[in-house]
Amino acid sequence: MADAVGNKVAKDYHLDISVPQDGFFAKGLGNTDWGMKNRLSRLFNPISGNSMMLAFDHGYIMGCTAGLERLDVSIAPLCPYADVLMGTRGAIRSCIPPTANQALCLRATHDSSVLFDDMSQGSGLALDMEDALRMNASALAIQCFVGGAGERDSLDALCRAADAGYRYGVPILGVTAVGKEMERTSKYFLLATRILAELGASIVKTYYCDEFEKVAAGCPVPIVIAGGKKLPEADALTMAYRAIQSGARGVDMGRNIFQSQHPIAMCQAVGKVVHEAFTDREAYQFYLHQINS
Ligand code: R5P
Repeated sequence: MADAVGNKVAKDYHLDISVPQDGFFAKGLGNTDWGMKNRLSRLFNPISGNSMMLAFDHGYIMGCTAGLERLDVSIAPLCPYADVLMGTRGAIRSCIPPTANQALCLRATHDSSVLFDDMSQGSGLALDMEDALRMNASALAIQCFVGGAGERDSLDALCRAADAGYRYGVPILGVTAVGKEMERTSKYFLLATRILAELGASIVKTYYCDEFEKVAAGCPVPIVIAGGKKLPEADALTMAYRAIQSGARGVDMGRNIFQSQHPIAMCQAVGKVVHEAFTDREAYQFYLHQINS
């Protein structure tokens, strides 16, 4: 057991040394099974290596969030512009046409609703693998509260999901959730992202932060960022650009897309950053061009 006290501070992330590919494009996943790799190749574009995930799972704790009042109206038309649809099974079954051929990342935990003061208290599995496979899911998202009251339960849910995921070839996306009192620092995200990957997450979702290149380097599997609260479009594109430049393999973005006045143009602009190496300025110019044409 490593000592909790007196450890040397981690500092050498070898940012100048690229990670070996192990015959597969996705970092750290070269030793997984064919089915897992096939699903990963639907989640991440094998050419860019990156993923543009559209997150609309907010209703599972927030109810009718602004922009998600009618998923059939606001989200269904956006689907063709994303690589991955991230939502709950209830939302997807009821509001997204099964002809949508994007990969699915199913929200697979339930958590405390916004009526509770601190959502970091608890989490549990919200579906089983049989239903995920019935829906042709390419990944399951498990929310984890490292350092929060719900740490033990949520990490247990992650481990059980990873067991089932390895059994059936379904990657688990571990989400580093931050509760009310939890910090959003690189020190915290370095800890949380690494714990999730070591416990079996094949993809880790976190927030963009200072020194993000260390967070990405220290995580042995692909990392994607959440968008967070709505920002002006130019700022959201800058965040996405900086994350990709610092080693993120994609974005899992919700409010900065579906709360935009021009969600399709925003989705396309984020996609340019994620897949086509657009700078944030180029992507914002593209966004302006789309909304004015
Ligand atoms: C967090 O896990 C949420 O459920 C969302 O999936 C995530 O925060 C991404 O959405 P947003 O970009 O709106 O933060």
